[in-house]
Amino acid sequence: MFSALSTLTLWVSIVLAQTSSSVFDFPEYPPPGTPGPYATLANAAAPLPYGISDDPALSEAVIHYDTGFFGPQIELVHAYYNYWPTGVGVASDGTIFTCFPRGNETFTLAVFNSSTSEAAWPNEEWNTPPAFYNESNPGYSIATDKLLFIQSVVVDGADRVWALDTGRPRVNGTYLFAAVPGGPKLVGFYLNGTSFVTYTFPDYVVYADSSLNDVRIDLRGEGYAYITDSSPYRPAIVVINLSTGESWRHLDGSLMTSPDPAFVPVYDGGTLLKYRVAHLMLTNEEVPFYYRPIAQPNVIQRLTAFAADGIALSADGEYLYVTPLTSRRLYRVPTSYLKQQPSSTNPNAYMLARENVQNVGEFGGHADGLETDSTGYIYLGSQEHNAIHRYNITTGLVEPFIRTPVIQWADTMSVVSLQSGGGYLYFTVNQLWLAPDYQNG
Ligand SMILES: *[C@@H]1O[C@H](CO)[C@@H](O)[C@H](O)[C@H]1NC(C)=O
Ligand SMILES: *[C@@H]1O[C@H](CO)[C@@H](O)[C@H](O)[C@H]1NC(C)=O
Ligand SMILES: *[C@@H]1O[C@H](CO)[C@@H](O)[C@H](O)[C@H]1NC(C)=O
Ligand SMILES: *[C@@H]1O[C@H](CO)[C@@H](O)[C@H](O)[C@H]1NC(C)=O
Ligand SMILES: *[C@@H]1O[C@H](CO)[C@@H](O)[C@H](O)[C@H]1NC(C)=O
Ligand SMILES: *[C@@H]1O[C@H](CO)[C@@H](O)[C@H](O)[C@H]1NC(C)=O
Ligand SMILES: *[C@@H]1O[C@H](CO)[C@@H](O)[C@H](O)[C@H]1NC(C)=O
Repeated sequence: MFSALSTLTLWVSIVLAQTSSSVFDFPEYPPPGTPGPYATLANAAAPLPYGISDDPALSEAVIHYDTGFFGPQIELVHAYYNYWPTGVGVASDGTIFTCFPRGNETFTLAVFNSSTSEAAWPNEEWNTPPAFYNESNPGYSIATDKLLFIQSVVVDGADRVWALDTGRPRVNGTYLFAAVPGGPKLVGFYLNGTSFVTYTFPDYVVYADSSLNDVRIDLRGEGYAYITDSSPYRPAIVVINLSTGESWRHLDGSLMTSPDPAFVPVYDGGTLLKYRVAHLMLTNEEVPFYYRPIAQPNVIQRLTAFAADGIALSADGEYLYVTPLTSRRLYRVPTSYLKQQPSSTNPNAYMLARENVQNVGEFGGHADGLETDSTGYIYLGSQEHNAIHRYNITTGLVEPFIRTPVIQWADTMSVVSLQSGGGYLYFTVNQLWLAPDYQNG
């Protein structure tokens, strides 16, 4: 530890040499118990990794710098070559499920069938609706039992696979079709691919322009599902009573579900991107990062169109944690309020849920996905830091968990205890900010 601090000590000793006065008679520094420099996670005090000086006297200098790494070892388990993944869910036998937004893909829910390929799951038939859009109802999709656009796939504690269908496919690169009741749904499958339940929503719970994004299932008691509606227009939390199939909305337009209007992120330290397309050199030099939709060339907007997205249930089921995608704040609300269905016999339920939202605070990044482990940590993607943080409910502090430069937008996370042994956090790295919509095509 002391040798590691040699450069610091040198600079202090120059000052000390100027006087013997007791005003520089500092208490021991660093104070006893201070973590050593190697304990400062992504930072290290060590000889520099490459030469930045010709002066031999500096070759051994130990300098404090950002290595870009901390936390447990990361392991690459899959590479996607065809489609852009959104979700990932892992069963205890190691089966890995994933999902894709509909583009021209023949499937939206899939299973890994090799480390570099995916196959339709449970089969092609489930993934092939009779149509994507309704010819007699322009702009609208259709009601169907089949899967239109699975945005999230979650494996529950009983190893059952839940697929959340937004009901809003995007085909041939065009806009999202509007949903009709019977399109958006939550479908439960056994691991063998047999479906055991489908929940659909009335049009006053999931709107035509809703954007169902992620789901968490609580099998305790009668059982509830909590779903984020990340619509930029009417963000909310949708709750399903799994016993009855009844559903309702809470927290419409609440701070917990809404984007932060002032949010402006920075990725990879403010990367300069240069693409060479044929004879054109396209540059993208935004530091910080803005949204550049292809629909309106060269229109630059703040990245604030994304509302409640990541969602996690505390290990004891008492709190639902949510962070809007374009916000660095983490919120939670006691699930006891969400379980109350607003109705004429329970007219205060809606207001009470709003009033019991807690702003847990800024967590030092912004997240797409959240996840919980059995000890109670809430894991938070941290796109601006190539990292995943975790929130400790006991201390109320966000801790670093893992950081490595290859984490390029940890989108969805799945914690699993494998039958073969070991607890793992799986996460997709989908490089969302590099997608065409964000890069002017
Ligand atoms: C995986 O599934 C895809 C789609 O069905 C298929 O084309 C491919 O051959 C399969 N690969 C393996 C290794 O089974
Ligand atoms: C298509 O739209 C028409 C008119 O709104 C409606 O009657 C019909 O049920 C829709 N079909 C499907 C499959 O959703
Ligand atoms: C997508 O393109 C294919 C091939 O051109 C066409 O057959 C299909 O009808 C298109 N689908 C939609 C929804 O436009
Ligand atoms: C997907 O659809 C778009 C829009 O019609 C088209 O430009 C593109 O070539 C299609 N891609 C494939 C692989 O069919
Ligand atoms: C699939 O698994 C469920 C639950 O274990 C079981 O009830 C069902 O019979 C299985 N279906 C098939 C086709 O094996
Ligand atoms: C959920 O369904 C169960 C079983 O019917 C019922 O006892 C409970 O009251 C329902 N909860 C709400 C909030 O509607
Ligand atoms: C949180 O911090 C407390 C106090 O340091 C510690 O005992 C606990 O293991 C940590 N983890 C969780 C999940 O609470």
